[in-house]
Amino acid sequence: MDISLTVNGREHHLSVDPRVTLLDALREQLGLTGVKKGCDQGQCGACTVLVDGRRVLSCFVLAARADGEITTIEGLSGEGEPLHPMQQAFVEQDAYQCGYCTPGQILSAIACVDEGHAESDDSIREYMSGNLCRCAAYPKIVAAVARAREQMEAR
Ligand code: FES
Ligand code: FES
Repeated sequence: MDISLTVNGREHHLSVDPRVTLLDALREQLGLTGVKKGCDQGQCGACTVLVDGRRVLSCFVLAARADGEITTIEGLSGEGEPLHPMQQAFVEQDAYQCGYCTPGQILSAIACVDEGHAESDDSIREYMSGNLCRCAAYPKIVAAVARAREQMEAR
C-alpha cells in the first residue's frame, strides 16, 4: 500500500506491506538507522521516536497507521549545526557507553523534559524507566537529562 510519512520535516511517499512497522519503514526504507531495533517487542525503548513531540515505540506502530510529525535522532540537528542541548548534555556527561540505546534515550529524554517530568532525579528515573540501557549508564543519563533540562528551559 502507498503511504506518506512526515519525518524530520520532510514528507516521504512509500510503498509498504500493510504489516510493516514504523521502525522497519524508518530504518529500511528511509535509511534512518539512528532508530535502533532492540527487542522489537515494545520492551526496551531503543526504537523510541517522537510523533508530534510525544514519545512513541516505533516497533509497536504500523507504518500505515503513523500519523503526525515524526522526529528521529537524525532530525535533532543538521550537518554543521549545533547539537540539541540533550545531545550536548549526553556528550558532556559521558552518558553512553556502546551507544546503542542512546538515540532512544535522547528522544525520550527530550519528551520527559517537555512533559515536565524532569524536575528531580527520582522523577527522571521514573519517567525514563521505559528506556533500558544494557551498559547501565543510568546515573550519567539522569545527570545528562537534568543538565539539559536547565538549558532547554533557558532557551
Ligand atoms: S525495539 Fe521497540 S521497544 Fe524494543
Ligand atoms: S549505552 Fe550501551 S545500551 Fe546503553
